[in-house]
Amino acid sequence: MKPLRKAVIPVAGLGTRFLPATKAIPKEMLPVVDKPLIQYIVEEASEAGITDLILVTHSDKSAIENHFDKRYELESELIRRGKTDLLEIKRGTTPENIRIISVRQPEALGLGHAVLCAEPAIGDEPFAVLLPDVLMYHPHKGCLKQMVDSYNRTHTSIIALTEVAMDEVEKYGIADVEGSDLRIAGMVEKPKPEDAPSNLSIVGRYIFTPRIMEILKQTKKGAGGEIQLTDAMAELLRYEVMFGFTFDGVSYDCGDKQGFLQANVEYALRDKALGKEFREWLKLFASSL
Ligand code: G1P
Repeated sequence: MKPLRKAVIPVAGLGTRFLPATKAIPKEMLPVVDKPLIQYIVEEASEAGITDLILVTHSDKSAIENHFDKRYELESELIRRGKTDLLEIKRGTTPENIRIISVRQPEALGLGHAVLCAEPAIGDEPFAVLLPDVLMYHPHKGCLKQMVDSYNRTHTSIIALTEVAMDEVEKYGIADVEGSDLRIAGMVEKPKPEDAPSNLSIVGRYIFTPRIMEILKQTKKGAGGEIQLTDAMAELLRYEVMFGFTFDGVSYDCGDKQGFLQANVEYALRDKALGKEFREWLKLFASSL
């Protein structure tokens, strides 16, 4: 088995839920405290040992590629002004050991289609998928790193799962699991509560064996008229075992306004420079409600 060193981040989505903020900037560039969402994702991938990141992107999303590029003018200006602290922050945007590769998704045909667009850059290797809407917080060991450690033992596909309220299952892919090792028995994309096999939602981090690409090529449109990654995973189960992974940190669905606001508050509370003062203010403010 080849080591896991590649990851796909689909960033071609339109971000309609955050209009008008996303009219001229990609939703992945919305900041949580002082970093854009996409930077948290790239840092999580880097910590997990990923060296090749494939962004599946769209012509309107060049701000994301620019964010990870060098900006010589800005660097020279910061050097000229002696702002070495800001220079360090700026240089730290792109982890040193990561290559960023962009491929285009020419049409918005769904998440499964987006992943398939990365095939030329993936080849015959296992790979991870990280959805940039979902932030995963852990104080010591990121979600993908934990999943890679599991993958190095099982060499199977692994998907992160988290419990959601039964009236929320329609927003997610939902998995049916068996046994204490969370072997996946089936899954369905955005089921009605009465059709959901459980309340375990697929939460935006995946590790796949390369066979998923072959299956995606045959996958027909599913829920919402889109080519669904979940449908391809359900098909993969006919050939290979797959395990669920429950993350012991905190996940934030930043594709949703509530989740995005909660992420901002909680990351600000944890921030070394801002946290103390922000906590004081928040307490006062909460007691005035
Ligand atoms: C996608 C996946 C879904 C998953 C969700 C996690 O849905 O299709 O299976 O549960 O991400 O955020 P989307 O949010 O793109 O509708």
